[in-house]
Amino acid sequence: MEISQHRNGIREIVRSWRAQGETVALVPTMGALHAGHMALVARAGELADRVVVWIFVNPAQFGDPADLAAYPRAPERDLAMLRAAGVDAAFMPEAGEIYPDGDETIVETTRLANILHGQVRPGHFRGVTTVVAKFFNIIRPDFAIFGEKDYQQLQVIRKMVRDLFMDVEIVSVETVRDDDGLALSSRNIRLSPQDRRAALVLFRALERAGEMACSGTTVEALRTALSAMIGAEPRARLRGIDIVRAETLAPLSGPLTGPAAVLLSAEFGGVLLIDQKVVSP
Ligand code: PAF
Repeated sequence: MEISQHRNGIREIVRSWRAQGETVALVPTMGALHAGHMALVARAGELADRVVVWIFVNPAQFGDPADLAAYPRAPERDLAMLRAAGVDAAFMPEAGEIYPDGDETIVETTRLANILHGQVRPGHFRGVTTVVAKFFNIIRPDFAIFGEKDYQQLQVIRKMVRDLFMDVEIVSVETVRDDDGLALSSRNIRLSPQDRRAALVLFRALERAGEMACSGTTVEALRTALSAMIGAEPRARLRGIDIVRAETLAPLSGPLTGPAAVLLSAEFGGVLLIDQKVVSP
């Protein structure tokens, strides 16, 4: 596996593959890899001749410096996992390589970035779209693979690619869960055993949402039921329940008549977790 920390280095590697007519799939990550990331890597390998994984804890998407400092980092372990999975190249730049002195350009989806999770974490999605646009320009992949767990992020990136005519196909992969249902996340290792158990309430609430949608419900009844379930878990600090149109993330009300994305966020012992499910009547 080739490892590069520099824009020009990874560009050269990708150029040499392209010169042989090979296609490239990119898996964006912030490291601390787990089975969820490896599912993205596996999908990338099915789609393209070459797989590049980027590992970059992007400062621009963290509002709170303490959250950035606490973000788990395990580069050696990450590289071992990527080697074992047969990844062709890892791109691990320093922040100065991506945000050089004098850098001032940002990319923002003005509506989608500032609703829902974007209201809870102002500037977060602007940081994501800006870094993703930069990496797309550096690597120019044919495919880029994102997890459905970060559902709003996925829609924001699809919108950016559509609006800016970017020549890359965005491919999504279903959320990978532990056996008990907890969505895999790099943040999970910061949960105490009690908070990890408590966090299962998010999965249970989403299962309940699926059942209620199937048997017919209103958005209001669904929200009340989910709020009561999560509210009954003393270790959970509910941050958001959003029930929105699956593609546009536009608000919904009244009887549920089509596919809706149920987006949950809650803190457990100060660790913010998100989970999602698309439910249909
Ligand atoms: O989903 C993530 O890990 C990050 O938001 C991403 C897409 C790698 C951008 O930093």
